[in-house]
Amino acid sequence: MLRRLYDEQPESFAFTPANLEWAKGQIAKYPEGRQASAVIPLLWRAQEQEGWVSRPAIEEIAKMLGMASIRVLEVATFYFMFQLRPVGTVAHVQVCGTTSCMICGAEDLMAVCKEKIAAHPHELSADGKFSWEEVECLGSCANAPMAQIGKDYYEDLTAESFGALLDALARGEVPVPGSQTGRFSSEPAGGRTSLKDGDPAYEGNSSVSLAVFGQDTVKRITGDEPALRMPEAEGAVAEAEPEAAPEPEAAPAAPAPAMDEPVAAAEGEPTDPEPVEEGSKPPTLVEPRDGQPDDLKKIKGIGPKLEQLLHSLGYYHFDQIAAWTGAEVAWVDANLEGFRGRVTRDEWVAQAKVLAGGGDTEFSERVDKGDVY
Ligand code: FES
Repeated sequence: MLRRLYDEQPESFAFTPANLEWAKGQIAKYPEGRQASAVIPLLWRAQEQEGWVSRPAIEEIAKMLGMASIRVLEVATFYFMFQLRPVGTVAHVQVCGTTSCMICGAEDLMAVCKEKIAAHPHELSADGKFSWEEVECLGSCANAPMAQIGKDYYEDLTAESFGALLDALARGEVPVPGSQTGRFSSEPAGGRTSLKDGDPAYEGNSSVSLAVFGQDTVKRITGDEPALRMPEAEGAVAEAEPEAAPEPEAAPAAPAPAMDEPVAAAEGEPTDPEPVEEGSKPPTLVEPRDGQPDDLKKIKGIGPKLEQLLHSLGYYHFDQIAAWTGAEVAWVDANLEGFRGRVTRDEWVAQAKVLAGGGDTEFSERVDKGDVY
């Protein structure tokens, strides 16, 4: 696309006093002789002030930065984010026309622009309030089709919702940006299918939930914090627990547990919790038969720590696990302190049945080959 200066230019350009102060602050960020580095922020501010970048603005900015005007012109004409002709006084609408948006209806949105604003991109509407253009992907593809208006994204648009949005802007309203179908962000349109383990109080946002759970958001990090894991979190399963990190040479405090380790009990809390009464406890053994426990680590999801925990509960053999009923699985799931829900999630019983019958699973074969650490 040919990008050149508009044929009707204003007589002059000047930053408002506040914008001038701001521009001086930007220039001051760079060492002597490097003031040209502020060219993009200043051009952008000029555009935010006037709506577009005029020749006098380019010349003024060149003067402020000690640059030749042609150098500033090169920048302004290179980057499509700079508008080189007047735009609508209320809004310049940028409709994404790249693949996702095109597949999902960008052409319908552009038809609305042609009907409500102007027949061609970069043309002003009859009242001078609006203009539009097609732009390349704006990085909101999961919420296609979308348009950027001013600084904001309006997503999940339809011809109807987009038309209503332009009508609202024309009435002087400012529609709420974001998804126009009520999506929280870019989760599936039918609702979330993953990352659902956060606290509902925080909209299920796992990062926020974890931050609140750990209470370490603004805490200085010393390096000896326990690795955090939401107590009942699901998902993000390692096939097997990682080996414990080597002891530091001179550990001033207890080493942080590995990610798959249970979160350590806080000082004063009981360290040996009462069994949870849920489901029914499966039969246990006092010790392994013939003193030979099976290698429970051949079950995907069981690492050394879980194996140790199972031994402490009285479970040493594949056939014990293979025989667990639904109620017994519920009991074990509820009593794997720090690893709750693993039996169901990793389907231990199905794996144990294969192994107890003398067969192999894909995972146990990898263990035998030494591919799992
Ligand atoms: S394709 Fe439209 S935002 Fe990416």
